[in-house]
Amino acid sequence: MKFLEALLAILLIPGLFGGCSDWRGVQQPIAYNHKKHIENAGLGCFDCHTRVLKFPKATIPNIGFCKDCHEDPMTDSGEEKKLVEYIRKGQPIPWIQVHRVPDYAYFSHARHVSLGKVACQDCHGDVNHMTLPFSKPHTPITMSFCTKCHERKGVTTDCASCHR
Ligand code: HEC
Ligand code: HEC
Ligand code: HEC
Ligand code: HEC
Ligand code: HEC
Repeated sequence: MKFLEALLAILLIPGLFGGCSDWRGVQQPIAYNHKKHIENAGLGCFDCHTRVLKFPKATIPNIGFCKDCHEDPMTDSGEEKKLVEYIRKGQPIPWIQVHRVPDYAYFSHARHVSLGKVACQDCHGDVNHMTLPFSKPHTPITMSFCTKCHERKGVTTDCASCHR
């Protein structure tokens, strides 16, 4: 039912969805650097995105995690200063989630990462070497992004498997 409603919405109000195509990307609150945390701090994807192996959502870490190392500044970076401020105020960093599947489609990280053995990089690109935060998805999350890989790997492309 939810899916039929969404289908109608798409047929009736194309403008709502058309807006995505000229999306220039977002400005994250802190210029987070994946490469430094992987190479210099020795952290791995699962240390920070802690729910990715067992749950649909990977989750983005926030001050509760960052404060283990950043309660006091360890560099003279202005970006780290902003982080220390958030931690001192106990105020969550307002990260903007850039990869998103609409409600009428179902996606689970656990299914892909744990069961399917699909690497993060296959969907999110070379995150290990990213020096700037995500301003837009590495690969746009369209339906053909999903179904092309499913076809390649012999996984179902039944409408109902994703549109439940
Ligand atoms: C098969 C493709 C695929 C793989 C593999 C994958 N992701 Fe994702 N990722 C997505 C999609 C699609 C979304 C948007 C999901 C949503 O809206 O719920 C997403 C969203 C996210 C998000 C933000 C939303 C959330 O779930 O918290 C994070 C963080 C993330 N992925 C991290 C990872 C990490 C880390 C790995 C590897 C351990 C990984 N992803 C593997 C496709 C993938
Ligand atoms: C295990 C320790 C550790 C944790 C946890 C950690 N960091 Fe860091 N972070 C570091 C280290 C080490 C550096 C210094 C890297 C360098 O310059 O060599 C750093 C540097 C930084 C800097 C400034 C340097 C730069 O140019 O990027 C920012 C901003 C930052 N981290 C953000 C975060 C955020 C946000 C979190 C939580 C999501 C976090 N860190 C969690 C260890 C950590
Ligand atoms: C020290 C913690 C840390 C580590 C290690 C880490 N990440 Fe992240 N990740 C973050 C933070 C903080 C953000 C939010 C800022 C941004 O978008 O870059 C983020 C954002 C993301 C997003 C975008 C989520 C969205 O849709 O907005 C993806 C995808 C992602 N990480 C994948 C990975 C992968 C893959 C790895 C391992 C190669 C990894 N991360 C390692 C902290 C981490
Ligand atoms: C890079 C390859 C890849 C991409 C991209 C991908 N998938 Fe998958 N997907 C797989 C694999 C492999 C499996 C089989 C996992 C397993 O062993 O159960 C799977 C399984 C699934 C299942 C379970 C199917 C069933 O048998 O019931 C669903 C639902 C699903 N994917 C949804 C999505 C959605 C939604 C997207 C896009 C947002 C997506 N997938 C993108 C590789 C991919
Ligand atoms: C592997 C997962 C998957 C399968 C299988 C799948 N879809 Fe989708 N579908 C999605 C995702 C994810 C979106 C959202 C894409 C976006 O936001 O651009 C979507 C979007 C749609 C839309 C909205 C318009 C559009 O293209 O963005 C329609 C209509 C649709 N699907 C119909 C179908 C039909 C009919 C089938 C069966 C022939 C099907 N889907 C099979 C994942 C899937």
